[in-house]
Amino acid sequence: MRRKLEKFVDPLPNLQPLKPDKKTGDGVHYEITMKQFKRKLHRDLPATTLWGYNGQFPGPMIEANRDEPVHVAWLNQLPNKHLLPVDVSIHGLEQLPIVRTVVHLHGIETKADSDGHPEAWYTNNFQETGPVFSRETFTYPNHQRGSLLWYHDHAMGITRLNVYAGLAGMYILRDEHEKSLNLPAGDYEIPLMITDRSLNADGSLFYPSQPDDAAKNLPNPSILPAYNGDTIIVNGKAWPFLEVEPRKYRFRILNASNTRSYQLQLDSNINFQQIGSDGGLLRHPVEIEKIGFQPAERIDVIIDFSKAAGQSILLKNDLGPDADPNDDTGDIMQFRVTKSLKNKDRSHLPQNLSVIPSLKQNDISGIRYLKLVGSADEFDRPLLLLNNKHWHDPITENPQLGTTEIWAFTNTTNFSHPIHIHLVQFQVLEHQPFDLEQYNQDGKIIFTGPPEAPAANHRGWKDTIEVPAATITRVIAKFAPYSGEFVWHCHILEHEDYDMMRPYMVADDDKNNTKF
Ligand code: C2O
Ligand code: CU
Ligand code: CU
Repeated sequence: MRRKLEKFVDPLPNLQPLKPDKKTGDGVHYEITMKQFKRKLHRDLPATTLWGYNGQFPGPMIEANRDEPVHVAWLNQLPNKHLLPVDVSIHGLEQLPIVRTVVHLHGIETKADSDGHPEAWYTNNFQETGPVFSRETFTYPNHQRGSLLWYHDHAMGITRLNVYAGLAGMYILRDEHEKSLNLPAGDYEIPLMITDRSLNADGSLFYPSQPDDAAKNLPNPSILPAYNGDTIIVNGKAWPFLEVEPRKYRFRILNASNTRSYQLQLDSNINFQQIGSDGGLLRHPVEIEKIGFQPAERIDVIIDFSKAAGQSILLKNDLGPDADPNDDTGDIMQFRVTKSLKNKDRSHLPQNLSVIPSLKQNDISGIRYLKLVGSADEFDRPLLLLNNKHWHDPITENPQLGTTEIWAFTNTTNFSHPIHIHLVQFQVLEHQPFDLEQYNQDGKIIFTGPPEAPAANHRGWKDTIEVPAATITRVIAKFAPYSGEFVWHCHILEHEDYDMMRPYMVADDDKNNTKF
């Protein structure tokens, strides 16, 4: 079905910040429209029909400044037929219009009614709206530290398909402290959105309508338990190349893939200097050879090409020793150190990047034990749950506004889940392994080792963290500054859609906690 594509033949598209429509006393205003469009993803392929914000994939990059609010009217002008096979057997989706969207800005601290609640969806021109829909324009206050955020679709039960169709983009929030550090900037700061897709020979997107081993009685289409595309696409081009100068560059990297996680590595003796994680700068740079990279995570790295003039360097996805030779996803993109140095590199990589107070100093109001569990539905399809609850069950997590809690994610499945909490940036306390076989026999958690500190590059602010199989991963968060209903979920989009997502309520006892 697919044709073998030559790698490193398309230049990396350079993402430019979107110009605001207007600036007023209350912030910066944009209107962004979701549309169907066509775009070439590779030199040798016909154009691919995609869905994108402003007809772009990735969507237009928004550049925001700390404390300057951004208002976006996210308009839907998509056709009423979906590009991809929609399984309506889950969540009672057959009742709903097929094409519906709602935008979530991942990592932002905003009020619940601008957060993109999965049931705040709407159709083309707001003709139909979901039960939680309340506004057409979302506001992002940006009262948080500089970081790379990203926006993507979040509509209930079809997020995996809407995002796969192209509904994802980057949002860079800048602050004065970061500017004062003199990190590589301008042409030397490059956003990279890494995704995977499968493409048919005619260029069209391929997403299976059923699992490979589908039993006969399965609905058709039927949701997949996971999906990895066979083609790596960076900033909208398959396996691109980038010509660079022999100097330091800063890369702001996002894993926007549905399911795929990566082990980023350079095929040279250059290491990454990781300077930031999901929620902004780390305390100190972390020199690192391989970076584990789960869906929705962001990393901020410096790569120093100054000793590599003339070389070609691959950004690899280290798949490990048993990688299949026909699998091309071990390559991501290529850097060619072919440009001559324009000016002396005066950028700086300071040892002290930022101050991060430890949340462990706060009063801790409680620990929630939250189990990631596998079960099966009536068709015997895998059904992944959080605490054995479905999306539609009543809210069980309801921290009080302003309090600090520990959430202990207990992964009783045999694979990792990248868990994400809306509204907050959290800190990872530890991962503690337990005996999964024992647990499967009698439901008892017997630890097989002491708690392990998170990896050095996970010791900053995070909003998404890998919870490895057979571990309890403990994170600590302060639930502020807004009350209301948010969600937490696994960011493997096939899991989030079925059914690893739960609403949660930041309760404000001084107010009535009505849903919006
Ligand atoms: Cu990026 Cu609720 O997700
Ligand atoms: Cu989010
Ligand atoms: Cu998952």
